[in-house]
Amino acid sequence: MTDRVRIDLGARGYDVLLGPGALAAARRHDVLRSPRRYAVLADANVLRLCSGLVAGALEGLDVAGAPIEIPEGERAKSFATLEMVLGRMLDLGLERGDAVLAIGGGVTGDLAGLAAALYKRGMDVIQVPTTLLAMADSSVGGKTAINMPQGKNLIGVFHQPSFVIAEFGFLDTLPDRERQAGFAEIIKTALIGDRDFFGRLEAAGQNGLTIKHLQAHLKTAITFKAAIVAADEREAGPRALLNLGHTFGHALESEACGALLHGEAVAAGMALAFDYSVRLGLCPDKDAARVRDYLELAGLKTRLSALPGRPFTPEAMLQRMRHDKKNSGGHIRLVLARGIGNAILHDQADSADLLHFLKDQIQ
Ligand SMILES: NC(=O)c1ccc[n+]([C@@H]2O[C@H](COP(=O)([O-])OP(=O)(O)OC[C@H]3O[C@@H](n4cnc5c(N)ncnc54)[C@H](O)[C@@H]3O)[C@@H](O)[C@H]2O)c1
Repeated sequence: MTDRVRIDLGARGYDVLLGPGALAAARRHDVLRSPRRYAVLADANVLRLCSGLVAGALEGLDVAGAPIEIPEGERAKSFATLEMVLGRMLDLGLERGDAVLAIGGGVTGDLAGLAAALYKRGMDVIQVPTTLLAMADSSVGGKTAINMPQGKNLIGVFHQPSFVIAEFGFLDTLPDRERQAGFAEIIKTALIGDRDFFGRLEAAGQNGLTIKHLQAHLKTAITFKAAIVAADEREAGPRALLNLGHTFGHALESEACGALLHGEAVAAGMALAFDYSVRLGLCPDKDAARVRDYLELAGLKTRLSALPGRPFTPEAMLQRMRHDKKNSGGHIRLVLARGIGNAILHDQADSADLLHFLKDQIQ
């Protein structure tokens, strides 16, 4: 049974189909029925491991040439890959009314979204996320980006997809570690604004990642994100709350030089954000303890001394946090919490205090 969530953005609104059988359901959807050609951008591992599902995704579509293979890994989010993709699309003779079909995780989705936004001043992109992280987060909301030597996701545009198809069959080949990391983005939505949802996650315990529970959890998370994106598409206000755990997390991810997955870094970052909220007297101690306990139960490490990529240096982490693109006016901007389900923006973090906090955490 497939679920549907609507991203309500007026003329730029779109549906997200999710669950087992989403690809089959998508074939009956109007977006795939309009006659046009498709450039297919697909993650190299997905092409190798999920050929049957990829063939299913392309069934009945007028596909231009062979799929354009996106090398696996974060390094593919580069100008070099973007140029390769755009060149191939030009060679295929695609027109502005044609569309890009992105099949892969967040790396492929972010790159494909940007390529679609740039090609002949913009064409449609349909996202077929194949990792849990991409289903829960990156395929929805229209953020696209590539990385620069100076940092992650620094060059990009907002470009909403016209359809998202989250087919659970792809999760069969996804390594456990990737699944757990993706689950962090689902937990994040509960921590930001839905205390009851967090209670349901806790109640499901270690079964939260089984397909039976996962569909309900994913639907709740996407519905939550949909409301925030609809209210603040370009992150002028409340959408920034979706960055809970990301300021600490990006610093950890960059310092770990590839040893830490994005979702793992976000999970540890969320634990830090709750602990720092306790330190500032914003959040009850017991809420931060519940967050840490549940993340650990979900297989996500929260202690900096146990994280892949350790040891971390407080000064280096603070330096990374100073360059976070969410900062404004030279101040570090954090998403903190008054409790589970009650995230808030904290605009002018005190660097000296943050350094003390990080030193305490790293001991
Ligand atoms: N645009 C946004 O709003 C947004 C939000 C969150 C994260 N992101 C970005 O998303 C990226 C992380 O996404 P990700 O975690 O999906 O990483 P990813 O795309 O690198 O995929 C993770 C790994 O899983 C493999 N893989 C993908 N699907 C598979 C499948 N079905 N079976 C087996 N292996 C599979 C990939 O080859 C890769 O090795 C980061 O670049 C991050 O910046 C973007």
